[in-house]
Amino acid sequence: MRRPWGRWLLPLGLLQLLGGPAAGACPCQDPRLCHPVTGTGGFEVFVFDVGKETWKSYDWSKITTVAAFGKYDPELMCYAHSKGSRIVLKGDVPLKEIVDPAKRTAWISQQVDLAKKQHMDGINIDIEQEVNETSPEYHALTDLVKETTDAFHREIPGSQVTFDVAWSPACIDKRCYNYTGIADACDFLFVMSYDEQSQIWTDCIAKANAPYLQTLVGYEEYITMGIDPKKLVMGVPWYGYDYVCQNLSKDHVCSLSKVPFRGAPCSDAAGRQVPYGAIMKQVNSSLSGVLWDEVQKSPFYEYKDSLGHFHQVWYDDPRSISLKAAYVKSRGLRGIGMWNGNNLDYSREAVAEQQTEAMWQALTP
Ligand SMILES: *[C@@H]1O[C@H](CO)[C@@H](O)[C@H](O)[C@H]1NC(C)=O
Ligand SMILES: *[C@@H]1O[C@H](CO)[C@@H](O)[C@H](O)[C@H]1NC(C)=O
Ligand SMILES: *[C@@H]1O[C@H](CO)[C@@H](O)[C@H](O)[C@H]1NC(C)=O
Ligand SMILES: *[C@@H]1O[C@H](CO)[C@@H](O)[C@H](O)[C@H]1NC(C)=O
Repeated sequence: MRRPWGRWLLPLGLLQLLGGPAAGACPCQDPRLCHPVTGTGGFEVFVFDVGKETWKSYDWSKITTVAAFGKYDPELMCYAHSKGSRIVLKGDVPLKEIVDPAKRTAWISQQVDLAKKQHMDGINIDIEQEVNETSPEYHALTDLVKETTDAFHREIPGSQVTFDVAWSPACIDKRCYNYTGIADACDFLFVMSYDEQSQIWTDCIAKANAPYLQTLVGYEEYITMGIDPKKLVMGVPWYGYDYVCQNLSKDHVCSLSKVPFRGAPCSDAAGRQVPYGAIMKQVNSSLSGVLWDEVQKSPFYEYKDSLGHFHQVWYDDPRSISLKAAYVKSRGLRGIGMWNGNNLDYSREAVAEQQTEAMWQALTP
């Protein structure tokens, strides 16, 4: 069971004194809601929130952690704590700035101070920069994660430090990190099992954002390296890609214009990311209606735009997500999460409500 606040209470003024100058005044109606939430290491449902008000409509019965990637919203912090959910900061820094240990320490203490001031329960480190094994940044990044985790755990007892990694450890997007070292150094990795076509080395054609087998291969690679499945949270996409087809064949092969990315000749950067909510508004009126690719285990559809260009849209829905969620369970991963919680249609319209509920439900089939 999660315990949202400590056993004993102190007057607010005294708490602030004890917390030092970094602790800000509590913005919650109930000052106990400013205490850090401590988890038990049970099943994680990890939600990225990018701002706006939609968090009020989330399925809070499932959420264990919210990564607050939008502007700081004290109301969201109080609400998350009232539900026993953690809320964590976003951490990002140019790696060349943290090679020097003193600069690293300064960055970490800034993050800890900010977390205390905003009553946050940890940090999600989202560094997606290029690194290779021979660079000083390679070791500095592992040290950064280790030192950040030590500082947060020491300064905010029960806090959580996590790190975002690509769908596979195979130097995706030139991110050659010390994955085992980083996994050891933090509470868990959030595996971004999406944008899996960021580097297309074969046919330059539209494909699923997160094909089923390719997604599973990524986890097996992390586990084969020696990373405990309990250190892995699966990230699923609540968005898809809308591609303009250079040519669309009758058997649904959509060829793309060549947009290179980090050394690969072709990439999903040829497409445009679209939230699930917007996709659901378009699919029924599309040329094709919902289609299902049996190999990639992903839905897609095709439409023609006002200029007469054909598009193919690949996305994830409750059917494709629940297949992956079943693997999370059977493989004993730490949990599941999504980029991002705001991407659903939270209007009170009946069809949208039902589709939105089904997406939350698919996380824990
Ligand atoms: C590795 O990274 C360093 C620093 O970013 C860079 O100077 C070097 O050229 C890279 N080496 C290779 C082989 O990419
Ligand atoms: C990765 O990090 C761990 C822990 O810091 C270290 O023991 C290991 O040597 C590193 N691996 C490489 C290849 O540098
Ligand atoms: C487009 O596809 C059709 C049918 O698959 C093919 O006959 C045609 O040559 C293709 N056009 C281009 C420009 O690739
Ligand atoms: C789209 O079609 C499906 C299946 O026929 C239906 O269940 C759904 O309500 C429709 N969506 C909208 C937005 O009308």
